[in-house]
Amino acid sequence: MSRFIGGFIAAFVIAGVVGFWYLDSGRLDTQALGQKPPAFEAWLAGHALDASVARREPAASDRIGSNDTTLAAGGALYDDHCAVCHGTPSATGVLADALYPPAPQFSERPPDPNVDHDFYVIKYGIRWTGMPGWGHTLSDRQIWTVVTYLKRFDSLPPSVALRRSQGRARWSYQ
Ligand code: HEC
Repeated sequence: MSRFIGGFIAAFVIAGVVGFWYLDSGRLDTQALGQKPPAFEAWLAGHALDASVARREPAASDRIGSNDTTLAAGGALYDDHCAVCHGTPSATGVLADALYPPAPQFSERPPDPNVDHDFYVIKYGIRWTGMPGWGHTLSDRQIWTVVTYLKRFDSLPPSVALRRSQGRARWSYQ
């Protein structure tokens, strides 16, 4: 038994030394531009994120109903704070693949269907990624307004969609 524990500790120490050597020798590529995580890394990180959020997300409160006024307000907040990375219903975010991991484009891959998950992630951000926490910038009510907008991202009423598509020019840098 003590041999087993000794072997286990030795393996642990060797893994630590090899890991330190790998990082210290500069072999880890720290570039972000145009890089995509390998499938295993994406799966592991996604799993850890889901488990962490599920453990901490608060019970739903203060959700905002969806109507033309709240959708327009959510769209304005989204264009100001989020479109640069996540894109609009019709355009890719200019920083989409400048981040590691890349920012998901909500027109192609809608956010998690669980709105409590989305609220939590938007308020607190996601460590080790480009996703900022907005809890010091937006009120809870504003975050719910953006979540409501995201739910309707691919089915916006025509009046709201038109105004948003005019607003997106801001992020095109052209
Ligand atoms: C600087 C770039 C950047 C900005 C600005 C940004 N995000 Fe993100 N966001 C990211 C990245 C990168 C991820 C992916 C993190 C990951 O892979 O776990 C992400 C993830 C998310 C997710 C989780 C997606 C999912 O399916 O689980 C949501 C929801 C989200 N962002 C909403 C927003 C909202 C709303 C705003 C604006 C208030 C915003 N983001 C602003 C970069 C950004």
